[in-house]
This record gives sequence, structure tokens and C-alpha cells, in this order.
Amino acid sequence: MALLASALASCSKKSESIAEVVDARGEVERQAGGGAPEAASKGTRYYFGDAAHTRDGHATLDVASGGAKVVMEDHTTVRFGGDLQKVQIDVEGQADLSGSMAVYALNGRDVRMGEGGGKVRVNAKAGTKGTVEVVDGKARITEGTEVYELELGKPRDLQTGKEAPGDAGVLGPRYTEEADPGTTSFVPRPDWYFYFLFYLLRIFKWPESVFLGTVGIPTILLILLILVPFLDRRRERRLVRRPVAVVAALLVIASMGVLTYKGATAEEALAGENLALVPQWVEQQGLSEQGEAGARIFAQAGCMNCHTYLGAGSTNLGAPDLSEEGAKGRGVEFQIQHLKCPSCVTPGSPMPAFDKFTDEQYQQLATFLEESKGSQGGGEAGG
Ligand code: HEC
Repeated sequence: MALLASALASCSKKSESIAEVVDARGEVERQAGGGAPEAASKGTRYYFGDAAHTRDGHATLDVASGGAKVVMEDHTTVRFGGDLQKVQIDVEGQADLSGSMAVYALNGRDVRMGEGGGKVRVNAKAGTKGTVEVVDGKARITEGTEVYELELGKPRDLQTGKEAPGDAGVLGPRYTEEADPGTTSFVPRPDWYFYFLFYLLRIFKWPESVFLGTVGIPTILLILLILVPFLDRRRERRLVRRPVAVVAALLVIASMGVLTYKGATAEEALAGENLALVPQWVEQQGLSEQGEAGARIFAQAGCMNCHTYLGAGSTNLGAPDLSEEGAKGRGVEFQIQHLKCPSCVTPGSPMPAFDKFTDEQYQQLATFLEESKGSQGGGEAGG
């Protein structure tokens, strides 16, 4: 009797289905084990080792364990493995998996659905582990004792568990996370192949020579290049007989190389480095205590991404050097108004509004700006 029961039990265990098609639009197939694919439809069951495949259509499968659902996009294969304790789901193509509480091995990585339920999207090209991201509720990747909470819109690479770097192009990621227009702490850096131009912009200072450096010189060079066949009509083609052209070409390559290198290693205005300059400013400008507090805000609030100050920081959007801002005699009231809404005081100003400071912080920043009279006038102002 016991024998029979255990035989029955093992038999029923073996035949326990893991998933069932509950909705199918378009062609859906079932491939049992290593066998040939057969057409599937609503009600078709899948067992461990089976694969579901969609062609031009979608399919929704109920997964027995944990009451989960798999929604398959078109041209997607989903393979079921593992056991009822931990169902292994391998996705090739795109599929959404929703459920709660249970752990699934998705393309080799353990993903645990949140208590209140979660829905994750797996996106994998053939031959890759692909990425997983949460599209609803909560879910996390667990790896030993490490836990990575999945975030909306931030797919993680299933191979490495790390945040996926976006769609990788040959020259670098084609896109990364969405741009945040409100950011004030972003350090602007171009892609590496623009470093030479980026560094040119640092050599030529706004506003006198930037136009010359970035538009003027390249345009002149381009016109010269177009004129070369008309100017140089000798028939000589041997490089050794053409020293001017060869030297010119080598110089262009060398200077672009140097500029690219300089651009790559150029220091950015980082808050920590700027903060370290504050004592020096206090001395040079003779800042009061109030002014020093303002200087610290100035160094940290991202102002120096656009403004230079006593030789530090970087110039962007044509923002003026502020070392001698106080010498303009604008007054504290103006400075506060300008910080709160630059374009209200200076029509067309591209400077972002800094409207999150406290009254005290505005006062400190404005005092700092008004006390900045350049390294010459500093001594008296400090008195
Ligand atoms: C995104 C770039 C950017 C950032 C960040 C930025 N500024 Fe400006 N700032 C500008 C530009 C452009 C101007 C010139 C137009 C204008 O006067 O509003 C300017 C002008 C100024 C002026 C001159 C006003 C005048 O007319 O005398 C002051 C002072 C100033 N900014 C202070 C600051 C302070 C303080 C911060 C940080 C809290 C800051 N800026 C952050 C771009 C920026």
C-alpha cells in the first residue's frame, strides 16, 4: 500500500505542470523537452524542461508556483526549469513576470518578488543574459547575502547584477539615464571624441576668444583644406618631397592627441576641491564670517560648474568670473533677487534659479558675492 502511494506520489509529482497558457494572441508553441515544437493554445500545459515560444503574438501563462504570471512579447522563448521550490525561468526576447513573495531564478539570477506583489521585465537578446527591471510594485535581486532593490526605469544586467549601462554602442553607451533638467551639481563632460574641442574651450576664455577658437580657427582650417588642391598643383606625390603637407598633417594629429589627453585628464570643479579653497579666498578677499559661510555654500552648490572664482571652477553658458562681483556694487538685495530668479533681474539669463536656500543662506551667499572684490581690494574689505 505504502509502495503504491509513493509510486503514485512520484508519478503525480513528475507530471505536475508548471505553467498553463491562459491567453494567447497569435501563434504560440510548446516544445516538450528537446522535442519538436507543437502548436499551443489556451489551456496548453507546460512541464519542467519545456519551452514556450511566441511568433507574431503575445501569450500569457499562469505559473503554478506562487501564483505568478508570465506575459510573453512576440518572438520570445521562455524555458521552465528548476523545481517547484524555485522555478527557473529563462527568457530569450522580452517577457514580464509578475507575482508575489516567491523567488524565481531568472536567466540564472535569483529575483524575489515583493510582499505586495511585483512585476519585472526581462529583456534578453539571443545568447545574452539580458537585463531585468521592475515595472510595477517591488522586486529585488538576491545574491547570497547581497540584495539589490530593483528600481523603476533602471534595468540591471542579469550577467553581472550591476546596473545596465544602457544600450552599448561601439564608441560608448548610446544613452544612459534620463537627463535631469533641474540638476545643479552635474559635472558636464563630453564623450571622449569631443575632448579636444572641450579642451579648446578651456584654453579660449569667454567671451573674447571663444568664438575665434571654436568657430573661427576650425572654419579657417576647413577652408584651407578645401583650397589645397587649387593652391598646390604640383604633381609630386612622394611624401618625402612634400615636407610642408606632411608636417602639417602630423601637427594636426599630434595637437588633437594632446588636446584629447588634456581634456581627458582635466580636473573638474568638484565640490570637495573647491571647498578646500575657501580658507585661501578668506585670506585673499578678506571675507567676514558671514562671507565665509557664503563661500562654503558657493563652493558646494554647483555655482562653480558655470562660474570661475579666483582661478578655480569652470566657465559654462558664458557665466562671468565672480572674483570681482562685489566691485560692481550691485548690493545684497540685488544678489538675493538674482539668485532666486536670475531671469527676472537679468532678462534671458540662462542661470538656473536657486530657490531652495534659507533666508540666512541667501544672506550669506550675497554677502560673500558683495565682499568679493578681487584679490587687490581684498585687504581693505576685510577690515
Ligand atoms: C548653469 C550655469 C550657472 C550656474 C550653476 C550658476 N550660474 Fe550664476 N550666472 C550664470 C550666467 C550664464 C550668468 C550671466 C547672466 C546673468 O547675469 O544672470 C550668471 C550670472 C551670475 C552673477 C552676476 C549677476 C550680475 O549681474 O552681477 C552672479 C552673482 C551669479 N551668477 C552667482 C551665482 C551663484 C552664487 C551660483 C550658485 C548658487 C550661480 N551663479 C550658479 C550661470 C550660472
